[in-house]
Amino acid sequence: MKIAVIGTGYVGLVTGTCLAETGNEVICVDIDAAKVEKMRNGEVPIYEPHLDVLFERNINAKRLSFTTSLEEGLNHGEIIFLALPTPEDEDGSADLSYVLNVSEEIGKLIKEYKVIVDKSTVPVGTAEKVQQIIAKNAQCDFDVVSNPEFLREGFAVDDFLKPERIVIGSSSERATALMKKLYNPFVRSGNPIIIMDEKSAELTKYAANSFLATKITFMNEIANYCEKVGADVDMVRAGMGTDSRIGKRFLFPGIGYGGSCFPKDVKALQKAGKNEGYDFKILNSVIEINAAQKTVLLPKIESYFENNLKGKTIAVWGLAFKPETDDIREAPSIDLMEALLEKGATLQVFDPEAMPNIEKRFGDKLKYSKSMYDAVENADALLICTEWSIFRTPDFKKLKDSLSRQVIFDGRNLYNTTDIEAEGFSYFSIGRRDVKL
Ligand code: UDX
Repeated sequence: MKIAVIGTGYVGLVTGTCLAETGNEVICVDIDAAKVEKMRNGEVPIYEPHLDVLFERNINAKRLSFTTSLEEGLNHGEIIFLALPTPEDEDGSADLSYVLNVSEEIGKLIKEYKVIVDKSTVPVGTAEKVQQIIAKNAQCDFDVVSNPEFLREGFAVDDFLKPERIVIGSSSERATALMKKLYNPFVRSGNPIIIMDEKSAELTKYAANSFLATKITFMNEIANYCEKVGADVDMVRAGMGTDSRIGKRFLFPGIGYGGSCFPKDVKALQKAGKNEGYDFKILNSVIEINAAQKTVLLPKIESYFENNLKGKTIAVWGLAFKPETDDIREAPSIDLMEALLEKGATLQVFDPEAMPNIEKRFGDKLKYSKSMYDAVENADALLICTEWSIFRTPDFKKLKDSLSRQVIFDGRNLYNTTDIEAEGFSYFSIGRRDVKL
């Protein structure tokens, strides 16, 4: 099939590349000429595991190409994906200007039947708005469908190629048939394509992300309470998660959720509720608790250093909002590091992928280390903010020799408390007993 993807951010690029992988001819459209030129030369503009291999293969097979011309994209594609940014407005709602402006152009440019697919995460009622805007100028038939993405950064290619479900909001049989044809190769395992109305599809995305953010936040509260009563959140988590009604996933406590989706989507749903006179009390709490959770380790660090962080050097492992990405948007590391800098600490930081992004944000306020072991050299403490695999089994002897004080503050519960105590470290984590040697 012939596809156009408008917007080559993280979602658009993964969508375009993976659709080319099943034999479709895909044109990706972006207004950024320099970016388009780079992509034409085979350069993947984001870090996402496995994307580079698929990208190169499909460019070489001439199934994947790039243009700055919206008109060219629209002439080529029968199905047009809108994968445009919907940033957070000042008041927390989603800014739809990119989606609506492109829709206006689409209305003027299309000459034959098209399915316009909202892939961006957009508030309930957006498909209807897009429909109306295109209809103002369109001289031909078209349908607008909602098709939210459920791609995790770091696993986006896998999630796209093997989705647990595809959600399609459509009230047109013609559009539904085309969308099913497009997605059938991805659900051969029997996972469902769920067809519903556009508004329900739009809300499904917000509901799913807000539920997951709530699940994590609930566990963060249980973890905080565990510390008060001397329970171990790892045990509680194992005991709860084995109940299939609860499930094992997304029960890991830590220093809060971050990223480009959860924080934005929870706030957008809260705001959308308010606009309809509905107060999402549970989401108000989730937002408040998550903000506080990001610095939950700060009092432990301060207390260990007797409320004096001036002149102390802290090594920080992990800066990205989660492993396998260079994305630092809403990363808990940022809040924690800002608080530590304010208290006068010096920070020696390391992340396998996110160093350039962190450097852009913090400039010369931080010391950037070449490796995880460089970062701990002569530091007074180690702080872990992201659970990259390489941090899970460090050389503890080397660590001990490098640190001037053998203490670890672990925001991701990477180590077994008893084991690390035996290694000779003081150890402070989330929802488990503190070890003070
Ligand atoms: C999320 C959704 O999972 C995806 O379906 C959606 O479309 C986009 O948003 P992503 O933001 O890439 O994906 O990351 P995810 O793996 O879901 O993690 C989100 C945040 O929750 C991270 O900050 C992570 O550290 C945190 N998290 C996750 C926890 O703190 N505990 C957990 O148990 C799981």
